[in-house]
Amino acid sequence: MDYIRIFDTTLRDGEQTPGVSFTPEEKLEIAQQLDRLGVDTIEVGFPSASKGEKLAFREIINAGLKAEICALARTIKSDIDAALKCDVPYIHTFISTSDVHIKHALGMTREQVLEAAVNSVEYIKDHGATCEFSPMDATRTEMDFLKRVCKAAEEAGADRINIPDTVGIMTPHGMEKIIRELKTVLKTPLSVHCHNDFGLAVANSLAGVVGGACQIHVTVNGIGERAGNAALEEVVMGLHMLYNKRTGINTSLLYITSKLISRLTGIIIQPNKAIVGENAFSHESGIHTRGVTVEPLTFEPFSPEIVGRRRKLQAGKLAGRHGIRAELKEAGLHPTEAQLKEIVQRVKDLGDKGKTVTDADLLAIARTVIGEVTEEKIVELTDFAVTTGIRVIPTASVKLVIDGKEYIAAETGVGPIDAAIKAIQKITDRLANVRLTEYRLEALTGGSDAVAEVVIKVEDDKGNVVSARGAREDIVMASVEAMINGINKILLKKRREKDLSKSFY
Ligand code: KIV
Ligand code: ZN
Repeated sequence: MDYIRIFDTTLRDGEQTPGVSFTPEEKLEIAQQLDRLGVDTIEVGFPSASKGEKLAFREIINAGLKAEICALARTIKSDIDAALKCDVPYIHTFISTSDVHIKHALGMTREQVLEAAVNSVEYIKDHGATCEFSPMDATRTEMDFLKRVCKAAEEAGADRINIPDTVGIMTPHGMEKIIRELKTVLKTPLSVHCHNDFGLAVANSLAGVVGGACQIHVTVNGIGERAGNAALEEVVMGLHMLYNKRTGINTSLLYITSKLISRLTGIIIQPNKAIVGENAFSHESGIHTRGVTVEPLTFEPFSPEIVGRRRKLQAGKLAGRHGIRAELKEAGLHPTEAQLKEIVQRVKDLGDKGKTVTDADLLAIARTVIGEVTEEKIVELTDFAVTTGIRVIPTASVKLVIDGKEYIAAETGVGPIDAAIKAIQKITDRLANVRLTEYRLEALTGGSDAVAEVVIKVEDDKGNVVSARGAREDIVMASVEAMINGINKILLKKRREKDLSKSFY
């Protein structure tokens, strides 16, 4: 009872997600990944549905995977024949057993349902396939009838009986109770199949195991009809870490499997989703980042590497110096105390403006600060304005302080960046004839409020070349910052050379 089977239905119930449809090639790629992950069963689809489904079955069966390959079939002979024709070794057959379904979806009587269930299980077994039987909408089925149908399926030879919470109305307590109750009359291994209409699919699946189920139906990322199915990654980690159960899953592959499904379905994973969401192992506040860098268990239930992830210390307005320093160290950047103070300040300023600071933003800021902040500044920007538009000539005015003296200049250009750089050059030309030789917009992350990182090369009339950076949310400001940084570098270089030649002679 310690080993819980993982029955994956990403390719069948997962494909019933509105807007999701896999090609046979995609089904093969997913099945191969599920097999590497270590699921026990892969429910590939519904062979009677289309030619593409049959093709997917053929290719997946030919791939010779370790996992059992399963097909879904209604309790209808033609459905079962379609599955048998694909040489599927395992058939999952289902029929509704709740009165609301029997009356409105099937238009049958209870006795007809019972007969169809028994005939189908017998037919599948007569053809030598493994048979799993599901009384659909089991959790809304009257208990005596549910017991009767399941017992009849068992006597007809079913190898497993699956209890679907088709519309996700169970509570964990209720699910545990149903499984316990059924176990009083059944010997066949029981499985649970929970939908997430109340956000309880994972909790109900785990409760089913507490009640005595030894198999859980899951989908990667919890995709599926309506609010989806129980999420494979959450079920597995819950079983391993909270319920002391074993599965065949290699948990270090959970994250890449989740990414594959997200890519092939086009369904983006919510950032705060357990296990595989982008924020699941991210820490921002100073208290948390400090805690996890000292001892990860302070703010993490388990190490992210277990599920193929890495811890992320997120920069933001609540970020502390500790977290930002650790994050920069990872990227090979080692700011001084003064530089770190400036980086943290810029990050907090962005956070106060409501901006999420991405990794690329943080690195852009850090590279700029580390490259420039320690340098003594000869030229400082004290004011700056720019106008641009359709019927307006782009114009910029700048106020610079050079060696304590204030200078103002205005210029026009082909655009606001060109105008701003020309205005700066108009002033600094007197000190050094600096030419912009290269301009690159290096990192533009996220949306229209992203941090722009500008990298430039400037050259003076003596052939000195330096490169400099600027990183701001405003691309014009980033360009101005880069230009001022470049001019400062050239001027300091000249000053040092001059001092050197003085001391030499
Ligand atoms: O949700 C459900 O009842 C199903 C059945 C086919 C098992 O997916
Ligand atoms: Zn389902």
